[in-house]
Amino acid sequence: MRADESRHPLQKLTAILSGAGVAGITAAQVLSNQSIHDFIIVEYNSEIGGRMKHTSFGKDANGHPFTVELGANWIQGLGTPGGPQNPIWTLAQKYHVKNTYSNYSSIATFDETGAHDYTDLIDEFENAYTTLEQDAGTILLENLQDRSVRAGLSLSGWKPKKNMRKQAVEWWEWDWEYAWEPELSSQVFGIVNYNTTFYQWSDENNFVIDQRGFSTWLEGEVSTFLAKNDSRLRLNTIITNVTYDDKGVTVYDKNGGCIRADYAICTFSLGVLQQDAVDFQPPFPDWKQQGIETFAMGTYTKIFLQFPPDKVFWDKSTQYFLYADPDTRGYYPVWQSLDTPGFLEGSGIIFVTVVHDESYRVEQQSDDVTKQEVLAVLRDMFGADNVPDPIAFMYPRWSLEPWAYGSYSNWPQDVTLEMHQNLRANVGRLYFAGEATSAEYFGFLQGAWYEGQLVGTEIASCIKGRCSGETHYEDLHGTTPLKDYSLRNGWMVSSFQTDGLSCSRI
Ligand SMILES: Cc1cc2nc3c(=O)[nH]c(=O)nc-3n(C[C@H](O)[C@H](O)[C@H](O)COP(=O)(O)OP(=O)(O)OC[C@H]3O[C@@H](n4cnc5c(N)ncnc54)[C@H](O)[C@@H]3O)c2cc1C
Ligand SMILES: *[C@@H]1O[C@H](CO)[C@@H](O)[C@H](O)[C@H]1NC(C)=O
Ligand SMILES: *[C@@H]1O[C@H](CO)[C@@H](O)[C@H](O)[C@H]1NC(C)=O
Ligand SMILES: *[C@@H]1O[C@H](CO)[C@@H](O)[C@H](O)[C@H]1NC(C)=O
Ligand SMILES: *[C@@H]1O[C@H](CO)[C@@H](O)[C@H](O)[C@H]1NC(C)=O
Ligand SMILES: *[C@@H]1O[C@H](CO)[C@@H](O)[C@H](O)[C@H]1NC(C)=O
Repeated sequence: MRADESRHPLQKLTAILSGAGVAGITAAQVLSNQSIHDFIIVEYNSEIGGRMKHTSFGKDANGHPFTVELGANWIQGLGTPGGPQNPIWTLAQKYHVKNTYSNYSSIATFDETGAHDYTDLIDEFENAYTTLEQDAGTILLENLQDRSVRAGLSLSGWKPKKNMRKQAVEWWEWDWEYAWEPELSSQVFGIVNYNTTFYQWSDENNFVIDQRGFSTWLEGEVSTFLAKNDSRLRLNTIITNVTYDDKGVTVYDKNGGCIRADYAICTFSLGVLQQDAVDFQPPFPDWKQQGIETFAMGTYTKIFLQFPPDKVFWDKSTQYFLYADPDTRGYYPVWQSLDTPGFLEGSGIIFVTVVHDESYRVEQQSDDVTKQEVLAVLRDMFGADNVPDPIAFMYPRWSLEPWAYGSYSNWPQDVTLEMHQNLRANVGRLYFAGEATSAEYFGFLQGAWYEGQLVGTEIASCIKGRCSGETHYEDLHGTTPLKDYSLRNGWMVSSFQTDGLSCSRI
């Protein structure tokens, strides 16, 4: 930060945005759109985008590296022509972000003895899932007690127990999306999350392969309101302390610099808040701290391998390969080919994903140990003689990243909407936004975008003298009446009310 600000910390500034991810940048754009220009965006990293982050990996035939996404990779629930669209889909199209239809039906199944077709178990799971989502609707509509996805699936007749093929199928259908087991996930809010994205827009997912990176659209949007080298964007600036009250907010960086403003928006990930990575003074009130600690941060780790392109050993027309380990659920289960038509054809790249406990384990061990483990699995799946050593190997360590401490949030079974609202609500003039504060779209880019837009609009009203603050609950009430559901776009409640009226009760 500039030295003159340290000497004059009380300079008049309207807003500080802590974090230049999707939520922070979107909130800044709202302020700009409303002719509020005296804000500063403070960002830990040397670029914008936050958890929408890419890197270089491997080499093509000319020696040029490929770009792969370490974080967000899919545009999820695209939309119908003329109908409602995921705002991320709209923005990706605006900037011609290159992407391909991700075909979840293009899957081959394996276990430790090679290829075996157990795709019928996927159909069996999906039947149970239909019951799970209908039951979730009833629970929400009638304000009944929530329960775990494990209990909900069990009640729907899905009981995988020690059947490792069933466990692999369940992992592909649940953990791969929510980065957390069914035991630790809310039936109601997990389904709300699925429905609002995939039934409101469409059930399609497109996978981004743009060699400029997924964040191209966000850089495009930033350039509509910030000049190149704009002094309002402070990159490489690590916030260590924040003080707040009813008059304003001051943020301090690692080098002792500080900025004061009338309002601030904190978009740090839930992981950063839970790890106490930043000191807030005064300490948060109990209702706020409980809101932070009761929600859950997941970890989702993509492990990339490049093989010699002329020695690719998997079927290039298949997008996904599911592996059922005989001993451990979630042990290197979902493999994705990028050397497939429409993706990075000819690249020889494949990657495998682990989440949660397996992520913690893998992220704490060396590249070498992990490489040997994944190669052993590939050799079981495809035959030891067919799988050569990779020519490139790499994975991020999201759970250890001090600006993220995890990948994205998940809704635990014992969290009510009131508790989640406490995670969202402002304390004094310090406001919060990000994927985790979205009740409908938590875990998704669209969650960060909607929450950034909402909080930006709220701050803009405050600045113009119409400030109400956000509701919080000092006392919690167990379940959540539907009428308390604070919505961004009203879609869910209205569609529920229709569902409720159209179904005949026995
Ligand atoms: C592995 C992975 C896979 C994902 N897959 C998908 C997907 O396919 N589709 C999808 O829609 N979503 C996906 N997501 C989720 C998506 O990336 C997030 O929802 C979204 O990027 C969150 O944006 P945000 O603005 O809320 O938070 P962030 O992007 O985390 O932005 C917060 C910013 O605050 C900064 N910050 C943190 N601490 C400090 C500090 N002390 N000082 C200064 N700055 C600080 C951070 O550097 C960061 O830039 C994935 C995420 C990960 C990690
Ligand atoms: C800001 O205004 C532009 C132009 O009208 C619009 O495209 C954009 O979506 C607005 N930004 C937000 C975050 O609402
Ligand atoms: C998806 O894959 C399945 C199985 O290979 C195939 O039948 C289907 O046509 C594919 N869908 C699209 C849109 O490519
Ligand atoms: C989710 O959508 C399904 C299918 O339309 C519906 O039956 C169910 O009630 C919805 N549940 C929730 C919680 O939105
Ligand atoms: C931005 O700053 C860099 C480094 O300070 C400088 O090299 C570059 O010319 C600047 N660009 C513009 C457009 O001012
Ligand atoms: C920042 O917080 C740390 C505790 O984490 C504290 O020791 C330090 O004094 C604080 N600095 C400022 C400027 O408030």
